[in-house]
Amino acid sequence: MADDNKILGLPPFVVDFTQTDKVVTEDHPRLRRPMIVGADIPEAPFPIRMAGEVQHGFKRGSRELGCHTANLPDDALEPMTSTVKTGIYFGYAQVHPECPNGTAAHLPSEDYQVWPMVMSIGWNPFYKNEKLTAEVHLIHKFAEDFYGHKMSVVVLGYIRPELDYTTKEALIQDIQTDIKVALNSLNREAYQEYAKDSLFKL
Ligand SMILES: Cc1cc2nc3c(=O)[nH]c(=O)nc-3n(C[C@H](O)[C@H](O)[C@H](O)COP(=O)(O)O)c2cc1C
Repeated sequence: MADDNKILGLPPFVVDFTQTDKVVTEDHPRLRRPMIVGADIPEAPFPIRMAGEVQHGFKRGSRELGCHTANLPDDALEPMTSTVKTGIYFGYAQVHPECPNGTAAHLPSEDYQVWPMVMSIGWNPFYKNEKLTAEVHLIHKFAEDFYGHKMSVVVLGYIRPELDYTTKEALIQDIQTDIKVALNSLNREAYQEYAKDSLFKL
């Protein structure tokens, strides 16, 4: 799958935003996106580890995009902001039962496992945020919201830059592709090792 684009004679990462930095799916289609990213072994600066209590965001992820996101607090972002650019990343994350400053949600034990994740770190150009945020989408259906719970994140690779979109549907479509790219990319031995990272409680 990694060589898909090469077979077609296209460069390895082909995203057509040469004409405009807005992505218009209907009349200005993006060319093929690679469905797997990164080398077969995570390369520096990865893994990047972060942890913090889940914050409330604007809740557009769940209400508008069909994609729940758990925001990390500002003071947890330094390991990413000091090493990498804004964009969409993948790796693993775990929600912990501890809820230091609130009332813990009663989640089933499987919700506390380590799950694959995609995350966006940046300014959400589609929504024109004025503050940098890190939003993690754990690829698992949780029984309920878990604001205030501790969350640990191990970032293993970069997927793509943050983009602006002319339609919400185009953003939703790209997030769904990001999820597939993350699962494909994690489906390699050297990445799966990090599901047992010492940051996680197993
Ligand atoms: C995998 C993933 C990819 C995303 N890609 C973009 C993007 O390219 N451009 C953008 O403006 N926002 C992007 N977002 C951020 C969403 O716009 C954001 O999560 C949403 O606004 C929810 O934020 P809220 O819960 O604080 O409202 C992405 C989010 C995720 C989880």
